Amino acid sequence: MFSLDTTAVHAGRDGLTDQGLHAVPIDLSTTAPLPSVHAGGLAYEHLATGGPHESGQSTVYQRLWNPTVARFETGVATLENAPESVAFATGMAALSAVLLAVVATGKKHVVAVRPLYGGSDHVLASGMLGTEVSFVTPDGVAGALRQDTGLVIVETPANPSLELVDVSGLVAAADGVPVLVDNTFASPVLQQPLNDGAAMVLHSATKFLGGHGDAMGGVVAAAPLWTSRLRQIRAVTGGILTPWPAYLLHRGLATLPIRVRAQQETAGKIASSLAGHELVGRVRYPGLPECDPLGLVGTQMAGPGSLLAFEVASAEHAERIPGALKLITHAVSLGGIDTLIQHPAGLTHRPVAADAKPQPNLLRLSVGLESADDIVADLQQAIEATR
Ligand SMILES: Cc1ncc(COP(=O)(O)O)c(C=O)c1O
Repeated sequence: MFSLDTTAVHAGRDGLTDQGLHAVPIDLSTTAPLPSVHAGGLAYEHLATGGPHESGQSTVYQRLWNPTVARFETGVATLENAPESVAFATGMAALSAVLLAVVATGKKHVVAVRPLYGGSDHVLASGMLGTEVSFVTPDGVAGALRQDTGLVIVETPANPSLELVDVSGLVAAADGVPVLVDNTFASPVLQQPLNDGAAMVLHSATKFLGGHGDAMGGVVAAAPLWTSRLRQIRAVTGGILTPWPAYLLHRGLATLPIRVRAQQETAGKIASSLAGHELVGRVRYPGLPECDPLGLVGTQMAGPGSLLAFEVASAEHAERIPGALKLITHAVSLGGIDTLIQHPAGLTHRPVAADAKPQPNLLRLSVGLESADDIVADLQQAIEATR
């Protein structure tokens, strides 16, 4: 059993030496040779109904299985301490597949702990994939369960409020209903929700897993009961991750632990600096004691991460700040090597119902690998220039 740092470098790289390779190969084949109609047909049936590829079997067609994608899946599953994972073209494709899988079990009701990423909130609130949702706070989960509840979904830390939810407490409240944790903000370096009893872990791999802002993907780590359903849905809906981004996302895993820790250290310094600034109101960062009332940092989470949000006096001030920054980029997304800022109420959480939208004077910062001093200086000059 290796440490997480070692696992991040090596997971998903089995067999390379036997192939005479050092780096992971990118297999771009859209189709694969079939040994015979019968064997090919059996392989097709096996993969299209959610089976994992078996050694010696044809992979048949890239929508069903791809070796480069499979290596990334092994990497994520190993880091999340999961038996398997299934990778999709985006985080939203991954979530959509989960919702379709839940509906396929005959239970269409989802209990969702708000806040969630705006896109996740939107797909649930719209019911467009056949689910019915009850939005709750963590203490409302038990009371919201119905006979037909097939899933409880939560993000911790949550986007964009950075609130933390006690996963094992939530699993107990869910009373046997499978719990999905969106682990995008924490990454497996800081938190492994399956160890706390969650049934599924979801990532927008576009964020920390890839880490460089140049590849999209989504992934769900779980036991075979769920991964086989998800692969079947992926084969039907065609949402599989493709080999180029799979390669980049897999490469990102190798540096995930050092990136997450370095970005986290910088975020702590920025949070302290913002908390002491006269033009900044409440700072939301799990490393600040007032933001972690349950003491989950150090128990559930190995650290507070590198996302934070802060309030200024007015919505107008919040809207002016991004345009005055010189180093930090005004853009959605998060978890990459460079620092990004965005206005959740206006952008990522725009589709969320008015009564659940983030407050309009809040900005969210994803801290990158630049020096803390440079980021602090840029924030200070922009906050002051736009007051
Ligand atoms: C927490 C969270 N989950 C899921 C998603 C959706 O992922 P993607 O943009 O890769 O579809 C996002 C995107 O921002 C996110 O922040």
